[in-house]
Amino acid sequence: MPVLLVTFGFLRSNLSARQLFALAWSLAEPCFIPAAKIARNYRNGSNRIEIRQTARVARCAARKGMINKNNTLEYGQGIEGEVAALLDDEAVLGALGAFEAFFDQIQTPLLRLPGLATELGIGELFVKDESGRLGLASFKAMGGTYAVFRVVKEAAERVLRQPIPYERLLDDDIKPITRQITVCCATDGNHGRSVAMGAKLIGCRAIIFLHKGVSEARERAIRDLGGETVRVDGVYDDALTYASKQAADHDWTVVTDTSWPGNEKIPGVVMQGYAVIAAELVGQMAPPTHIFLQAGVGGLAASIAGYYAIRYTDQRPRIIIVEPTRAACLFKSNEKRERISVPRGAPTVMAMLECYEPSFLAWRILARVADFFMTVDEQDALEAMRQFAFPFVGDPSIVSGESGGVGLAALAVANARQYRDIIGLSEDSRVLVFNTEGATDPRLYEEIVGRSARQVGAANEKVPTDVMGERAQR
Ligand SMILES: Cc1ncc(COP(=O)(O)O)c(C=O)c1O
Repeated sequence: MPVLLVTFGFLRSNLSARQLFALAWSLAEPCFIPAAKIARNYRNGSNRIEIRQTARVARCAARKGMINKNNTLEYGQGIEGEVAALLDDEAVLGALGAFEAFFDQIQTPLLRLPGLATELGIGELFVKDESGRLGLASFKAMGGTYAVFRVVKEAAERVLRQPIPYERLLDDDIKPITRQITVCCATDGNHGRSVAMGAKLIGCRAIIFLHKGVSEARERAIRDLGGETVRVDGVYDDALTYASKQAADHDWTVVTDTSWPGNEKIPGVVMQGYAVIAAELVGQMAPPTHIFLQAGVGGLAASIAGYYAIRYTDQRPRIIIVEPTRAACLFKSNEKRERISVPRGAPTVMAMLECYEPSFLAWRILARVADFFMTVDEQDALEAMRQFAFPFVGDPSIVSGESGGVGLAALAVANARQYRDIIGLSEDSRVLVFNTEGATDPRLYEEIVGRSARQVGAANEKVPTDVMGERAQR
């Protein structure tokens, strides 16, 4: 396979002998050099990255990520009742109203990548780029922040015994109520930033519990937003258990982005905030044929998939849920036909997706409306970051963190022929992926990609303006 690709590359692009060698090496290298070492090799950047770039998609296609059809008994059932009420247009417009009360610019761009679409043999490829969302660099800004607004709004309504619109939440008569409130959460990084930002904007206290694996850069980002941080031994689940105990002892409100039986209200509000992203998309593009959604506990995926399912019923796009092989709780739940937790394995570079138990609420939705469950490997995620950073001619470059490009990684893996047929990808497909985060840990980003986020962002200056940031037409 590498030999064929090298020959093909040679014929197509007149590579020099040295470049050919580099290409062959970049194809063979992943077979025997661990991902971290490859990441270091990218540091010097320049031509070598571009050369690897030409081969990247093909290399992903050769990887062994797995795919399964939805196997659950609930598959195909509609979303109804209280779950539908969370994600229908009326509810989501209400959430949008909350953001409009606090932010001038909410919507993120939808980017079109015609070069990569051609390379992948699909009709169109769209990327909903969340790397600039509300200044927080991840879609998570839409969940925790909104939930904090809702916590304060409901407290104010209880005390003042009247409906309080979001626009009133900063008024003087509300402030003493807000100051009494402490919100807390456990986080891998992004959700904690979101909760901290909500608390800062509205004027309440936020305490964010971080497990040992969360990088210092991510902790600093939370502190910069006024969040108080507490380190907890263990992994995310340990931080959540500890946060819940502290909250019960001190009468704080836990703003969780995952749910379990009996804890559905706040996670539902968080998901409603994410669904604003889907509502934006409906205004930005006609429905795609396929949506690849990366998942940790599944909250984002369920919000987007649920919104499309409610709106378009049986005309909805095909939904493909993607997880790291090392933390594939939804994939395994689908195999078992019920929500299960999976054993903790080795850490994954896709740190934000390292979750071992699906959200109860998210699973209820995804069991009904996800069409496929996929896994991708460590290397696939790193290559997707580089793919976004060093695009094909005519495509914009996109700054995408370790968990941000996982939908694209899955598309590349699925593009391997047998998966293409299973998923129904063709030259007519209009595929949507999400860049769910930018460089939320800038040093790590630079180490993996070989250029800083700033350099990658600046590369767009060379892209014609009608391509960069272009809104897709209906
Ligand atoms: C960047 C990024 N992408 C995807 C996800 C997955 O979201 P969820 O846990 O709702 O499935 C997260 C979760 O923190 C995230 O931070």
